[in-house]
Amino acid sequence: MGEEYRAYRDRVLNFLEEHERWRSNTINLIASENITSPSVNRAVRSGFMHKYAEGWPKQRYYQGCKYVDEVELIGVELFTRLFRSDFADLRPISGTNANQAAFFGLTQAGDRAIVLHTSHGGHISHMPFGAAGMRGLEVHTWPFDNDEFNIDVEGAEKLIRELEPKVVVFGGSLFPFPHPVKELAPVAKEVGAYVMYDAAHVLGLIAGGQFQDPLREGADVITASTHKTFPGPQGGVIIYKRFGETEEIARLQQAIFPGVLSNHHLHHMAGKVITAAEMLEYGEKYATQVVKNAKALAEALAEEGFKVVGEDKGYTESHQVIVDVSELHPAGGGWAAPLLEEAGIILNKNLLPWDPLEKVNEPSGLRIGVQEMTRVGMLEGDMKEIARFIRRVLIDGEDPKKVERDVFYFRQNFQKVYYSFDYGLPMKE
Ligand SMILES: Cc1ncc(COP(=O)(O)O)c(C=O)c1O
Repeated sequence: MGEEYRAYRDRVLNFLEEHERWRSNTINLIASENITSPSVNRAVRSGFMHKYAEGWPKQRYYQGCKYVDEVELIGVELFTRLFRSDFADLRPISGTNANQAAFFGLTQAGDRAIVLHTSHGGHISHMPFGAAGMRGLEVHTWPFDNDEFNIDVEGAEKLIRELEPKVVVFGGSLFPFPHPVKELAPVAKEVGAYVMYDAAHVLGLIAGGQFQDPLREGADVITASTHKTFPGPQGGVIIYKRFGETEEIARLQQAIFPGVLSNHHLHHMAGKVITAAEMLEYGEKYATQVVKNAKALAEALAEEGFKVVGEDKGYTESHQVIVDVSELHPAGGGWAAPLLEEAGIILNKNLLPWDPLEKVNEPSGLRIGVQEMTRVGMLEGDMKEIARFIRRVLIDGEDPKKVERDVFYFRQNFQKVYYSFDYGLPMKE
């Protein structure tokens, strides 16, 4: 009696430990992940995880929120300062949840939306089968220019005028180059559309001033995750300028609560606030290094013989590097990603814009993100080392287990979380 269930607990605790040990010994290049600082970890482990705080600070539907309120108000202040916005709402519990709220707050069922198609790098929550469709929106997609790896501005302008949508959505999951917000926002405004910018992937780069600046380029509302290039705990956020009438803003706030959530995971909220402080202090240096590392990795991979997407545009302006591995193996990314995992190099296979949708399991691409390895202190020279590991597995055909040993030793040099109050900045080479 009792032993059987205790054994389950032990197994789970053991898996947690194994996972953490394994991850700290691998090169994680998943573009949508990051690692949090010890201070943020403290917040996430705090007693805030046991609280309810429906509503807005100082106007809660629950008692006992005096400390939660203080933290959330600091958060609103820091996020609005970081993004030079008028409002920030830290309550969405994920990027998708933020998108749901924005679609509910800004549109009615039956309205039209223009979004980036998933096959061009858009996110499922923008699609008919995701949050936008669930809102009842009539979803149309941006024309895409494969050569520019971006939204086709001329075609998009025409489409906005023809459809007169209620909302246009920029941003995506495969996102090496800034979207043409400043070119298209005025056209959207002409037809009375809201301009929404999904910064899930690039929020940390925007915070550090190293990508585009959507609010200054004409976006009304930014939705985002808080755990990709913004190196916080898993969560979401909505950031906006005063974009319309008071009632419009109130509708958006009501869409968040009580529209798409009740309580908002207060321990994660506290972690987001500490991350915002870290980004105010270190964000510019962090984002600058992320983009430098992404460019360095792209160049190094090209030198090692890989076909890196976007060569004539400098490969990337974000944290992402996109590699076409279709010529190395018929299963492309479906072959490469698991093989690299055996070598301790963790990344995603990805459809590329020119892939037919049926190739979803064997797409041409690999999507690589350098934001986590930058946070543990890697610099441009380390990107060359990573490119060599990838070449050994995918081009030289070396036994991945042999490469894994070298990855393990290499990774031992990077065990601290920099750009944080706990460890400051990494040492330069
Ligand atoms: C562009 C974009 N939007 C939204 C999301 C969803 O974010 P979350 O996983 O926080 O719900 C993602 C996730 O990767 C994304 O890439």
